[in-house]
Amino acid sequence: MTAATPAPGDGRQVGVGAAPGKVILTGEHAVVYGHPAVALAVTRQTTVRLTRRQGPSAVGHSIGQDDRLHDALFRVLPREGLTIDIETELPVGRGMGSSAALAVAVVRALADLEGRPCTFEDCFELGMRMERVFHGNPSGLDHTVSARGGAVRFQRTVDGPQITPLSTPPLTLVVIDSGFAGDTGQLVQGVAARRPEIDPILEDMGALSQQIIATLERGQGGAHLGQLMSENQRLLARIGVSHPVVDDIIDTVLTAGALGAKLSGAGGGGIVIALCDDPAPVLGAARRAGYTAFPVSVLEP
Ligand code: PMV
Repeated sequence: MTAATPAPGDGRQVGVGAAPGKVILTGEHAVVYGHPAVALAVTRQTTVRLTRRQGPSAVGHSIGQDDRLHDALFRVLPREGLTIDIETELPVGRGMGSSAALAVAVVRALADLEGRPCTFEDCFELGMRMERVFHGNPSGLDHTVSARGGAVRFQRTVDGPQITPLSTPPLTLVVIDSGFAGDTGQLVQGVAARRPEIDPILEDMGALSQQIIATLERGQGGAHLGQLMSENQRLLARIGVSHPVVDDIIDTVLTAGALGAKLSGAGGGGIVIALCDDPAPVLGAARRAGYTAFPVSVLEP
C-alpha cells in the first residue's frame, strides 16, 4: 500500500532521484524462451523531482501525454502532498527503458524526500509495480539494469530470473532513433505465432548470446563483437521483427564504418545500436540521412 502523504522524514522539502535507460546488446525475443540476454545501462537518464505541497499530488513538468503515466506514478507515490516533475534524456517508448528509468527514479526520489536509504530491492519491487502498468507482464530486465547500472546477463529460468553482473571492455556505442516505435506486445505475439518453425533460429540466438558474453568476458569489444551483433540482427530479421527503416539505418551506419549494428528492444522500429571505433562518421551519416543519433556509454554500476 502507498501512504496517503509522504513521510515527514527530516523535514526536507524536495527529493530528487535519477536512473538510467538501457540498450539490449543481445538476446531480445530469444530471452522470452529462456535464452540469455545482455542489457547495458547507458549514460542517459530520467530525473524525478518531488516537492512537498498542500493538497492533492499533481504532475508538473512531464515527459508526454501517456494516460498510463498517472496510474503508474500513484502505484508508488502518495496521492496527497507532492508536485512531481519529470525530465528525461531518453527517447520515450523506443525500447530504451524510459518507463523503467522513470520507475526507479521515482522510487529513489521518494526515499530522498523521506530521508531514508533506497535499496536495490525497493527499486525492484516498487519499480515492478509501476512497470506492470506500462508492460503488463514485464520480465524485470529493464528496471533491474536501471537500478543496478553496468552490464547485466539476464536469463529466465523455472526458478525465476537469473541476474548476473558482467564486466565489459569500454564500448563505443551510437544509438540511432528510427523515429517511431514498434508495439512490443504485438511483436512478441508475432514471434510466438511463428513457433515452432523458428525455434532453431531462437536456438541460434541463444548460442550467439553465449558467444557475445564470452567475448565480453575476454575483454574484447572491437570488430569481433561488431560481427556478432550484425549476426544477431540477421537472425532478428529472420524472425520478422526488423523493419525497412531499421534496415536502412543499419546499411547507413555500416557504410559509415560501424563495426556492427542491430535493433535493440522489440524491433518493428524503435532504436538501432551501432558499435564503433570512431563515433563521428557514424553520427554524421545517420544525421545526414535524417535520423536522430547520439553516442552512449555504459554507465558504471
Ligand atoms: O522493447 P523493449 O526494450 O521493452 O524490449 C523488449 C524485449 C523483448 O525480448 C522483445 C520482450 C521481453 O519481454 O523480453
